[in-house]
Amino acid sequence: MMKKIMLLGSGELGREFVIAAKRLGQYVIAVDSYNDAPAQQVADHREVIDMLDGTALDAIVARHRPDVIVPEIEAIRTERFYEYEKEGIQVVPSARAANFTMNRKAIRDLASKELGLRTAAYRYAASKEELKRAIGEVGVPCVVKPLMSSSGKGQSTVKTEEDIEYAWSYSQSGRRGDIADVIVEAFVPFHTEITLLTVTQKNGPTLFCPPIGHRQERGDYQESWQPCRIGETQLQEAREIAEKVTRSLTGAGIWGVEFFLADDGLYFSELSPRPHDTGMVTLAGTQNLTEFELHARAILGLPIPEIELLRVGASAVVLADKEGKNPVYTGLEDALREVGSDIRIFGKPTSRPYRRMAVMLANDRLGGDVDAVKEKAVANAGKVTVMSEQTSGFPSGNG
Ligand SMILES: Nc1ncnc2c1ncn2[C@@H]1O[C@H](COP(=O)(O)OP(=O)(O)O)[C@@H](O)[C@H]1O
Ligand SMILES: [Mg+2]
Repeated sequence: MMKKIMLLGSGELGREFVIAAKRLGQYVIAVDSYNDAPAQQVADHREVIDMLDGTALDAIVARHRPDVIVPEIEAIRTERFYEYEKEGIQVVPSARAANFTMNRKAIRDLASKELGLRTAAYRYAASKEELKRAIGEVGVPCVVKPLMSSSGKGQSTVKTEEDIEYAWSYSQSGRRGDIADVIVEAFVPFHTEITLLTVTQKNGPTLFCPPIGHRQERGDYQESWQPCRIGETQLQEAREIAEKVTRSLTGAGIWGVEFFLADDGLYFSELSPRPHDTGMVTLAGTQNLTEFELHARAILGLPIPEIELLRVGASAVVLADKEGKNPVYTGLEDALREVGSDIRIFGKPTSRPYRRMAVMLANDRLGGDVDAVKEKAVANAGKVTVMSEQTSGFPSGNG
């Protein structure tokens, strides 16, 4: 049962997905906007195009005639997906899911208005004046995000009136695509933030991974850990919400459903219709199947008899601090000394400040101390240094 899979977006999550798909004997074409992207290095074939260019996308789909299209990122001309589905191509999880989640308004209105889920209070604004009015209604502190953006780009927190000017201009420089509108969300004073990895199947019930806790900085995750201890009632509630929203969006695959846990309960935040970056913790051997293996099985309609927690684990990101090319990694001898310590180096051909280059993994036996495992992953990540060849004309110190 070999299928031709076209992966749109070839970063570190795509790379692990390709490895999972190859292990199941599939053929994968990895697409990205630059050559030698992480997933392209392990795929059968590669294409380099601007995935926001619908004509370029149509051209490679017509040339390769894939059985399955697997989006790895949001910045794709996803409107075309409806057409591909009509032509009989399986879009993962579905054209509807990809289109709803690429714009914060579509998914938020679906969650809040149609499905009645509890979210932070929110308004939309299309200009600086509308933003001022929206902030007046939502109150401060609040979070301003472009409707189309990811990884914290263009996102800022407004605490006082003075922050509004910056919030608007940053939203405009950080947005993706031609939509200027932003969402203004009341700040949720959460004590815990979780990702509930959810698997929808072609022939089988919706499954849930044990919840993953994570910490964000500058809009990017820094550490994630599994399991994240939350109350049984809240976990049940989170599962019901995840089931509801994924059923409405339709299709088979893995989803990362994000929630905030505050003193007054659970808030739905957003979701990814694909593997989630915080889910890289499953590479630490926490489960019988990683999030990438689950995605591959769900896409191919292969059985997933159960998702079992085997160990406690954590992941911590390794970031670059300079612009450069051909990075090498030092400190691995120290970082990998302990039992249960492991690393995934993504193979990115260039570095820049804050670019995620690798992830450090740590685990312990079931019942072990998750906080201690998290600290171990963070400490070991700190032992790894990314050294790249300088690409700018200026000396960059002792790198
Ligand atoms: N309304 C909010 N209240 C408090 N924190 C928020 C809120 N919205 C976002 N955040 C913080 O910012 C992070 C990124 O926001 P998110 O909406 O998930 O955007 P992205 O699409 O970039 O992941 C969240 O994981 C959370 O830590
Ligand atoms: Mg998010």
